[in-house]
Amino acid sequence: PGSKTPEEVVKKYLQKVKSPPEEDCTICMEPLGGPSGYKGPGVGPVSKAESVGRLAQCGHQYHFQCLVAMYNNGNKDGSLQCPTCKTIYGVKTGNQPAGKMEYHVIPHSLPGHPDCKSIRIIYNIPPGIQGPEHPNPGKPFTARGFPRHCYLPDSEKGRKVLRLLLVAWDRRLIFSVGTSSTTGESDTVIWNEVHHKTEFGSNLTGHGFPDPGHLDNVLEELRAQGITEEDALVE
Ligand code: APR
Ligand code: ZN
Repeated sequence: PGSKTPEEVVKKYLQKVKSPPEEDCTICMEPLGGPSGYKGPGVGPVSKAESVGRLAQCGHQYHFQCLVAMYNNGNKDGSLQCPTCKTIYGVKTGNQPAGKMEYHVIPHSLPGHPDCKSIRIIYNIPPGIQGPEHPNPGKPFTARGFPRHCYLPDSEKGRKVLRLLLVAWDRRLIFSVGTSSTTGESDTVIWNEVHHKTEFGSNLTGHGFPDPGHLDNVLEELRAQGITEEDALVE
């Protein structure tokens, strides 16, 4: 992404639309047949306000300038996500702060997984200062409850989830900085959209075992972040 301008990134995923449909752009809520309603900074003179594009894979249409504005509001990693259907173009990354992910096998079984040992993942993220990719750049962020310990069954499917979580970690998608829905604290490290089990032998918090659907749920949540089995093979 580094050398590409926002306009170039967005163009890469678009097909030009000659005659826009009689619908509104769902980013700016203005008709696709007229100019983009986006007035803010960051949209260069490269494109006309009327130009409309179709995302190549999912087919959803937007003003070109609206997509560029949306891209500029994100972390500008060279990827784009359709705001309607969430299809990801390119490789999505997040804003997880620097830290460490470790794991090892422990010789105990999780409730619901009596036939295998378990994997313990240990995440550690120290507090720090927010970067430009965070909600309040330059302001400190806190990091509560670290190291956070999480558990997976050491089964074939559990190991697959682990491989994909390692990819998610590299792409900075396991945690983000924001407001904790549990504590209400803002400017703090929070779980992103991939659920983890943080309780080992019981299920008092609802984040424990047994939970028969857990591994499939996590695979689905990882897919929503653009991470699939193919990613685990290549990285
Ligand atoms: N264990 C695992 N996941 C949790 C927990 C928990 N104890 N509490 C909340 N979550 C899930 C929520 O279901 C939600 O989907 O994390 C997501 C984000 O919730 P927040 O409360 O915003 O996240 P955060 O503040 O990071 O987590 C709260 O999780 O691991 C613990 O120590 C951590 O006490 C903290 C708690
Ligand atoms: Zn628009």
